[in-house]
Amino acid sequence: MQQLVIGASSAIAQAIINQGLKQGDVIVAVSRKVSDQEESSTGTHPRWLQCDYTESSIEAVCALIRDSKMSFDRVTICNGILHQESFSPEKRLENVSISHLDTVMRINAFVPLLWVKALKPLLRTNKKPCVITALSARVGSIGDNERGGWYAYRASKAALNMLMKTAALEYRRETTLVRFLLFHPGTTNTPLSKPFQKNISPEKLFTPEYVADRLMRIQSELSSEASIQFLDWQGEQVEW
Ligand SMILES: NC(=O)c1ccc[n+]([C@@H]2O[C@H](COP(=O)([O-])OP(=O)(O)OC[C@H]3O[C@@H](n4cnc5c(N)ncnc54)[C@H](OP(=O)(O)O)[C@@H]3O)[C@@H](O)[C@H]2O)c1
Repeated sequence: MQQLVIGASSAIAQAIINQGLKQGDVIVAVSRKVSDQEESSTGTHPRWLQCDYTESSIEAVCALIRDSKMSFDRVTICNGILHQESFSPEKRLENVSISHLDTVMRINAFVPLLWVKALKPLLRTNKKPCVITALSARVGSIGDNERGGWYAYRASKAALNMLMKTAALEYRRETTLVRFLLFHPGTTNTPLSKPFQKNISPEKLFTPEYVADRLMRIQSELSSEASIQFLDWQGEQVEW
């Protein structure tokens, strides 16, 4: 299988890459970061491409992929932030700021859309099925929002869901071989969730390896009927 993993420094992305390599996949990994991949147990490693996620940088990565004539079975977009040194998720309206909203919206919603845009010329001529997955989150569900708070993160994942659904409808008009998945991994032990883990019982805090395994199963069993689905790690539908 040929896989493109975007946002490859993410703990979940790393687990996806390692499991892919173990099963003999060819993997192209894209990240802001320089590769610090050690050789896996199989002695293989992904082709690592650096990208700063500007439109020109995303286009440049896609040109390299086009030249390599790769044809992907899986594209997985892992980018997402919840907190940074300069901000934490907002508990109340008084904490809302435009710079926080701008940053989170750009990384969590707009960067994934730019990838789906730049990859369209490559993927619409795919001769085999491809699943495009964006890592979403249940807190992006409007129907499921009963607790409030986390304005920027919630809104960015709701926007991600709408942008991916709209792109999936457009792709579907050109090819039925590309399907979209919005995936809620559950609370996973990564730097993103670290500050918010204290009230999570150990059995509800997943390892990245468990989540990667669940995702890969769900991708391989994904129905070809719907152009897009919003599913959790159990393969159950999440309310939009
Ligand atoms: N952990 C959880 O409990 C949980 C729950 C629900 C949903 N998710 C979602 O799962 C995905 C993966 O998260 P994770 O838990 O593995 O987190 P993580 O290890 O903190 O990974 C952070 C991700 O965000 C990207 N990123 C960080 N700063 C960025 C920037 N300035 N511009 C563009 N990209 C940037 C990184 O890409 P680079 O490789 O380019 O640095 C990396 O892909 C996210 O979309 C997150 O929202 C996680």
